[in-house]
Amino acid sequence: MPKITVDGKTIEAKDKQMILQACNDAGIAVPQYCYHPGLSIPASCRICLVEVEGVPKLVPSCQTPIRDGMVVYTKSSKAIANQKQVMEYLLINHPLDCPVCDQAGECSLQDYSYEYGRSQSRFEEDKVKNPKKDIGDHIYLYADRCIMCTRCVRFTREVTGTAELYVDGRGHKEEIDIFPGRPLNNKLAGNVVDLCPVGALLDKEFLFQQRVWLLKRVPSVSPVDSGGENIFLEYNEGVIYRIKPRYNPEINVWWISDDTRFAYKAVNAENRLKVAKKRELGALAPTSFRDALAAAEKGLKEIVASQGPGSIYAMLSPLMANEEAWLLGRAIRVIDPEALLILGPTPTTGQDEVFKDPRNGRVTFTIKGEKVPNAAGVRRIMQKLGGPQATFDDVLANQLPALAKLKGGWIVGGYLSNWIATDMPEFFKAGFRVVQDILPNALTERADVLLPAAAWAEKDGSWENFAGKIQPFLAATAPPDGARREGDVYYALLGRQGLYNAETIRHEMGEPFAAVHLPAEPDSLPLPQFVEL
Ligand code: SF4
Ligand code: FES
Repeated sequence: MPKITVDGKTIEAKDKQMILQACNDAGIAVPQYCYHPGLSIPASCRICLVEVEGVPKLVPSCQTPIRDGMVVYTKSSKAIANQKQVMEYLLINHPLDCPVCDQAGECSLQDYSYEYGRSQSRFEEDKVKNPKKDIGDHIYLYADRCIMCTRCVRFTREVTGTAELYVDGRGHKEEIDIFPGRPLNNKLAGNVVDLCPVGALLDKEFLFQQRVWLLKRVPSVSPVDSGGENIFLEYNEGVIYRIKPRYNPEINVWWISDDTRFAYKAVNAENRLKVAKKRELGALAPTSFRDALAAAEKGLKEIVASQGPGSIYAMLSPLMANEEAWLLGRAIRVIDPEALLILGPTPTTGQDEVFKDPRNGRVTFTIKGEKVPNAAGVRRIMQKLGGPQATFDDVLANQLPALAKLKGGWIVGGYLSNWIATDMPEFFKAGFRVVQDILPNALTERADVLLPAAAWAEKDGSWENFAGKIQPFLAATAPPDGARREGDVYYALLGRQGLYNAETIRHEMGEPFAAVHLPAEPDSLPLPQFVEL
């Protein structure tokens, strides 16, 4: 491994690395704007220039390969003078609007200005002013804040291959823009907001919602498809305000799809189910959660007592956490050892959407066609539990002999949009139905017992992605008042003491779940929530 000396400290680098990459890996801070590890290296911003022994001029550290024995100075007087000059140049036209800019608090320009900037501007002429521009369904461009790093342009050319953005003009008239009639609406477009080192590209949904330093975050996994994109849920005072990518070199690298980015909207939806209900004299009437749960258990036990084993089912949603599916499967089999386990609907678009770098054909990102996060995990749980089982397709085909005997069951939804078609399958129209869901739909209207549930962002658990990778996620917020986390409900059903704990259940489930652990040092952990059923 080549070794280089940076500011007097010897560090190990990888073959073919650039100086900046080696410094980043070693935790040596070198200012950088245009460099991003997932994009090509134009070396255009010039703030990363460093002094190399034996080289007369400063060199761009992001574009200069290391040599064994190289001696680099990132804080020499020449290097610092350059950093200060670049900062002064960049700030000539940059508005002083940090107090109203969403990026404040996570802005590289702000940070480096603090380190290298001048406290007073020497520029006396008028700054260039550009109005805010609407460049896509989710994105505004504040062009006068742009420092022309071109990360956004390169992203649309090298990652999505859609090339909606370009640099218009030259010199001080240079500006990022979209081509006429081609808004920035590709399915990964939101990533340009994360890439922009300043507040030039902003998320319309997050605009003026929160100051970023108020946000806390927990590691989570995308709920929108079986890809298992790693994310952070960012929240404040019980409300999720945005979703950001969490780097995972094996799955999503630095990017997430826009569907993932805006998945928190279903969690914050106004029409979330909040009131437990049970059917009385033909109508659904509000009741306490404890009473509704007792009615659910009683109803199912009465069916088994009168109809014998194999007369009830549990429909396990592919949005359930593995731990929840395991607990419900066990609970239903306590009531009826022959209960049928059914894997709930697994919607798919038929094929994956693949993004490629047009320069070399390399696949840069894939949006999976299977639009639920945990069909693989629930299948694995069902195998572990054994006994009678079916898929939702079996239910629709209605040819399994076991289906004819069913007189009632427990149905879990949790989908982020309406999952029940208006022409509801016959299966859902008959028998005693306990429905656990987060949003209203035709089935929640027809339930005999309705139990408002928690969305994925409100509970701990794990999901298995299409490739068999089991990944844990944490709760960011509590479920709405009146709704209960499924794990706590199943603990009560099984007569277990205490609160649901995903890690404990994973141990109980054995391999491969027992080996699944939370990412090291998550940014914050939610406090356990006391739930009285
Ligand atoms: S809009 Fe942001 S990402 Fe794009 S060139 Fe300007 S500063 Fe860079
Ligand atoms: S980060 Fe090296 S020139 Fe921009």
